[in-house]
Amino acid sequence: MRLLIVGTLEGYISAAGKIALQKGAKVAHTDSIDGAMNALRTGQGADLVMIDVKLDVGMLVDHLKNERFAVPVVACGVGTDAQAAVRAIRAGAKEYIPLPPDANLIAAVLEAVAEESHAIVSRDPAMAATLAMADQIAPSDASVLITGESGTGKELMARYLHRKSRRANAPFVSVNCAAIPENLLESELFGHEKGAFTGAVARRIGKFEEANGGTLLLDEISEMDLRLQAKLLRAIQERVIDRVGGSQPVKVDIRILATSNRDMLSEAKAGRFREDLYFRLNVVSLNLPPLRERPADIALLCRHFATKYSEANGLPPRTVGPDAMTMLQAHYWRGNVRELENTMHRAVLLSRGTEIGPEAILLTGAEPSYTAPPAAPAVAPAAARAAASYGNAGGYAPPPAYQPPPTQPAPVIPTMPGMGGADGGTRGLVGRTVADVERDLIIDTLKHTLGNRTHAANILGISIRTLRNKLKEYSEGGVAVPPPASGVDAEAMG
Ligand SMILES: Nc1ncnc2c1ncn2[C@@H]1O[C@H](COP(=O)(O)OP(=O)(O)OP(=O)(O)O)[C@@H](O)[C@H]1O
Ligand SMILES: [Mg+2]
Repeated sequence: MRLLIVGTLEGYISAAGKIALQKGAKVAHTDSIDGAMNALRTGQGADLVMIDVKLDVGMLVDHLKNERFAVPVVACGVGTDAQAAVRAIRAGAKEYIPLPPDANLIAAVLEAVAEESHAIVSRDPAMAATLAMADQIAPSDASVLITGESGTGKELMARYLHRKSRRANAPFVSVNCAAIPENLLESELFGHEKGAFTGAVARRIGKFEEANGGTLLLDEISEMDLRLQAKLLRAIQERVIDRVGGSQPVKVDIRILATSNRDMLSEAKAGRFREDLYFRLNVVSLNLPPLRERPADIALLCRHFATKYSEANGLPPRTVGPDAMTMLQAHYWRGNVRELENTMHRAVLLSRGTEIGPEAILLTGAEPSYTAPPAAPAVAPAAARAAASYGNAGGYAPPPAYQPPPTQPAPVIPTMPGMGGADGGTRGLVGRTVADVERDLIIDTLKHTLGNRTHAANILGISIRTLRNKLKEYSEGGVAVPPPASGVDAEAMG
């Protein structure tokens, strides 16, 4: 949660900021509306803006809307000024917080905002059991292993468990074990003392200590190497950690959540993951079914994201038309909810009226698949069931692959080479070496994921480590490799 405070809050900035910090928010401050807009434009994100009611709240709300920043605004002012409160709400503020700031009130507002952006949207029976189990175990301190295909909502589930736990007001810290190179991950997790290794210019606190009192998410834990797994096991068993280069063990009080998109038991059996660590982490396991196995969620999520992205883009609310919905229901959704979310975002932008039609639905990758791919025999019945629920039960026929109407130029979306051609796209490749084609595929996929290594590896079906080695090889060979999407990835590329 990132909070941006605008104005002086009548002298209560530090009091309000302190409360928010204690609730786990990251707090930034700027004096003016211009300052706030500049901060947002330069990429300093905010999940909530708290503005002094003495400033022009309406102007800030307008600026945000005009520049398409979807961030809720709350106004703050001295409690007795009822007129100002009414004006602020009329101008578009979501809430009015009276000053001096009350800790419970600020906590409630922060929680409401967090809840809104991290809600799990679902109603399919296939998810119900997982959600019921999540509710039951959330308050405990038990470690939880969350598994599921890429994009099924594992991180969302981890945040949900934290929010429903007794630790909700303490930090939630997440470490992506796949995105950080082996040699840095240990110090990322456990911290290091000054001088522990070349480049350790100052003491650094690791994620275990940062999460103290709260929850630590070890994301994509299957990618952690065996040597570090041993250290992690000790930290979890004994609740103490050793900073790299440190001489004193440090006590920590944390709950561990872990995610993986691999079958961890087979990883353990194959010797790639310590069995004892697996059993430690897997006190409870939650498996998120792939989206194609929860057809009722497809429809619900489509509507949810259509509304969300209409609002985020300052457009009138878009609904999903029946033909578009049939297409969406029948798609294979290899990238699960993430793919659906992107599809709906694009649909909102491409749609010409308030109803989203099939022409706005651009499905990347394979066309809707009616012959079940070998890995997922459930898709055909799922698609048929889904169509039936849309009043199309009398003789379900798969919709034809989408052709843009002749009068309308097809919108340009990034595509990958070799995609969708009738010959499977390989004819044009004859004469090239496998290594050559592989390199192009990897680089293009990376461009497609805007440099995000983790997602590229998922799409390519290779481990992040393999991807990283290949990229290193390419850039050493003088090939331009798209820059990483995040700071963490940047370290990964050395
Ligand atoms: N049930 C849901 N309701 C609303 N949004 C969802 C749901 N499931 C996933 N999402 C959204 O889909 C996107 C992907 O979810 P998330 O990052 O949690 O998936 P993941 O399983 O961790 O993916 P990966 O394996 O690629 O790391 C996020 O933007 C998330 O908010
Ligand atoms: Mg994830």
